Amino acid sequence: MSQDTSGELEKAQEREHELEHVLRRTDTNPRAAQRAERQVAIMFGLSMLASIGFVAAYVGISKTASINIPIIGSIGLLNLALGLASGLGLFLIGAGAIHWARQLMSDEEIIDERKSFAADDQTRAQVVEDFQQGAEESGFMKRPLIRRTLLAAMALMPIPAIVLLRDLGPLPETKSRNTLWRSGSRIVQDISYKPIRPEDIPLGGLVASALPADLKAIEEEQGTLNERAKASIILVRMAPDEIRSQQIQDGDYQGILAFSKICTHLGCPIALYQQRTKHLLCPCHQSTFDLADSGNVIFGPAARRLPQLAITVDGQGYLVAKEGFQEPVGPSFWERG
Ligand code: FES
Repeated sequence: MSQDTSGELEKAQEREHELEHVLRRTDTNPRAAQRAERQVAIMFGLSMLASIGFVAAYVGISKTASINIPIIGSIGLLNLALGLASGLGLFLIGAGAIHWARQLMSDEEIIDERKSFAADDQTRAQVVEDFQQGAEESGFMKRPLIRRTLLAAMALMPIPAIVLLRDLGPLPETKSRNTLWRSGSRIVQDISYKPIRPEDIPLGGLVASALPADLKAIEEEQGTLNERAKASIILVRMAPDEIRSQQIQDGDYQGILAFSKICTHLGCPIALYQQRTKHLLCPCHQSTFDLADSGNVIFGPAARRLPQLAITVDGQGYLVAKEGFQEPVGPSFWERG
């Protein structure tokens, strides 16, 4: 027997000695064991009562009932009762199971030595020898021409797979960066294509969907909704002093702000505007944008703010774009800076 093996055996025996089984009271005293059994059963029984209490609270306590707790303040009595009952029920099952395991289940310690995963020296030497013999027999080292051409062929092998990625579709290039909005594009209502005047939007009001006037002709000609999907905007009006920041200096017109209607997360159209907070909520995954603060994301998965369109009025008093969008609209793609 090698020295290593005998050393390991000694250590194992030492550990076995250290872990010598100490009997519990429940192992030697049947009355203590019965007492522990009753304690476990009581805990499980109380858990059952907690579950029944949960149902009783759900049925019996009014949703509007509340209770005043010092420091915390007023909280709903129903929620408190449901939380306590379900928490207590789970806790008692866990506590009962632990007590059962500690007092009544077998507590004999067993040492199971972990086997080494490493191959022994002899096996490793054999693998190296087999590999060298294989390389020798194949002539891989003796024939440099074959070796080099094989390595070059293997190096080029992944290239066709990379080229095939091109078939995933045309690159969006700048298509998703440009919309129909240009300097002077008149802003019109969706569906009616009626131009909008500032006085059409009361303080605190909004136009949930507006478009550039040019869109109608383009849709009739192309018959697609692509441009509409990119150019849709939402207009909101707030008191100028409620606007905390803007993406574009003086991008509003008398408190009227225009933002892309397309969520920067996955592109859902957004129109859930809360006038009091100035927040715009996307119904798809709850991204929330603060329109009074540059359209910044304040909640949810969207990674970019909602692009703002700078607006003003033309000579006839209709709302128009001052310029195109300065940031790409719609979902964040890999090609966007
Ligand atoms: S598409 Fe708006 S949050 Fe996902």
